[in-house]
Amino acid sequence: MYKTWEELKDACKTCTKCGLCEDRTSVVFGVGVKNAEVMFIGEGPGENEDLQGEPFVGRAGKLLDKMLEAVDLSRDKNIYIANMVKCRPPKNRDPKPEETELCIDWLRNQFMLMKPKIVVCLGRIAAAKLIKPDIKITKEHGVWFDKNGTLMMAMLHPAALLRDPRKKPEAFEDFLTLQQKINEICEHTY
Ligand code: URA
Repeated sequence: MYKTWEELKDACKTCTKCGLCEDRTSVVFGVGVKNAEVMFIGEGPGENEDLQGEPFVGRAGKLLDKMLEAVDLSRDKNIYIANMVKCRPPKNRDPKPEETELCIDWLRNQFMLMKPKIVVCLGRIAAAKLIKPDIKITKEHGVWFDKNGTLMMAMLHPAALLRDPRKKPEAFEDFLTLQQKINEICEHTY
């Protein structure tokens, strides 16, 4: 485990633990406030993220930022955003279980340095790995799970909302649920 963000990021940037390193432009380490109380975890970088080196900067990211802003959250102000895998899977396929397994220590180390009170999993890949393997996102999004003292919730992935905009209202409910929980348990987010 690395004890500082600088050491961790430096090491992560040269990672060659799995094959995803071969085609990457950038390692997409994560972005936001390093002592945030709320951490968002997506699946993996897409094309724009790979090119720019930052998570959620494409269309799905723009939608995410809009929903975050509606509940006073932003990567510039009070949250941190990372992904399950730090390098782009080819053609945006799902990361393979072995890629996620090889990558997860980077995320664990980020979690240990940040010690967030709340973790939000964006989509099934993150939720299945971090909350429970058989999670049913359609039914269990917006539900809190206590994992060793950290509150965790799955949300619908913003890319899924772009594919089916009718799901936006129920997805936004989860942001309101999150806002309420932040008001209850967080000390410096708002
Ligand atoms: N989708 C993700 O899950 N993560 C990103 O960074 C971008 C799109």
